[in-house]
Amino acid sequence: MTKTRAVITGVGAYLPEYRLTNDELSKMVDTSDEWIMKRIGIKERRILKEEGKATSDMAAEAVKELLKKTDTPPSEIDLLICATITPDMPFPATANIIADKVGIHNSWSFDMNAACSGFIFTLATATQFIESGRYKKVIVVGADMMSSIINYNDRTTCPLFGDAAAAVLLEPTTEDLGIVDYINRVDGLGRHHLHMKAGGSLLPASTETIKNEQHFVYQEGQAVFKAAVSSMADVAVEIMDRHNLSSDDIAWLVPHQANLRIIDATARRMNLNPDKVFVNIQKYGNTTAATIPLCLWDFEKKLKKGDNIILAAFGAGFTWGSLYLKWGYNTK
Ligand code: UT7
Repeated sequence: MTKTRAVITGVGAYLPEYRLTNDELSKMVDTSDEWIMKRIGIKERRILKEEGKATSDMAAEAVKELLKKTDTPPSEIDLLICATITPDMPFPATANIIADKVGIHNSWSFDMNAACSGFIFTLATATQFIESGRYKKVIVVGADMMSSIINYNDRTTCPLFGDAAAAVLLEPTTEDLGIVDYINRVDGLGRHHLHMKAGGSLLPASTETIKNEQHFVYQEGQAVFKAAVSSMADVAVEIMDRHNLSSDDIAWLVPHQANLRIIDATARRMNLNPDKVFVNIQKYGNTTAATIPLCLWDFEKKLKKGDNIILAAFGAGFTWGSLYLKWGYNTK
């Protein structure tokens, strides 16, 4: 019997218009374009500035574009999963709000909290529903409004992050295409190095938590960097070995965009030529769950049906993962 796989059949994205440049950041905190470019590789990031807009608004725009591009009526969507760490509100799930905003009713939706690995973890989850035959059309959206949890007085975190949303449609195929395999890992001990201290049940919001600036991203940069460099490359190489893939067999590496040095280190461990690596960190920064689908969207025209692609990510949790897929279509 031919195995059914889940294949990506379209991508959509949304980027807020406002560009926060390194020069503007240099007026807000003690930093410089030179430092940010040398240590991270970011030139500018997009920020959602419109009053009353949130993660679901960006995600809804990304999903609308996806539905239009794939000519899919909202009524045909069986499930929508949203990867985010910046939900509109603690509950209900942002996925439900997105579904409502795009006209997806009478279907199922939920959120996934895996920070920068959110898209890979969610894609792996969504794959199960397609492979099992239960569902025919599943949307995976990665969306984060990082500007809502960034302290723009903290130079160690504010240059890193941006806002964006991007979505893919997954459908069944019996061709030799789609999601082949994945390796997903977590280490809860890593939570101490990267988290948001307040706003949950451990430390509910209070005047004290606001005064202590505990509603922002807390990151011990070097500890996270060290773990990211080794773990992201480890799983990328592991999935290559598992499928006997050499660097020649791989068309593209689509890495999470947190730091150009982490991306370069991963590509080097995979023995990959830099021209096989998708990089757009200079334009958008780290958009957390959105980076990988945003890369697929940004470079969609380069992708050819059957291309072997490796996705790789590392993020808060700690979470990390790699996913091996064969691209499903040629862009018209
Ligand atoms: O996607 C989620 C996972 N997150 C990541 O993958 C991020 C991983 N970490 C990193 O990418 C890097 O650690 C950072 C980009 C956050 C920091 O780069 P670094 O090379 O590790 O710098 P550092 O923290 O060791 O700081 C070096 C120096 C320090 O000054 P002193 O103590 O040497 O005088 C910092 O205070 O750079 C200083 N510094 C800055 N200087 C100018 C830190 N941030 C800035 C800044 N501008 N924005």
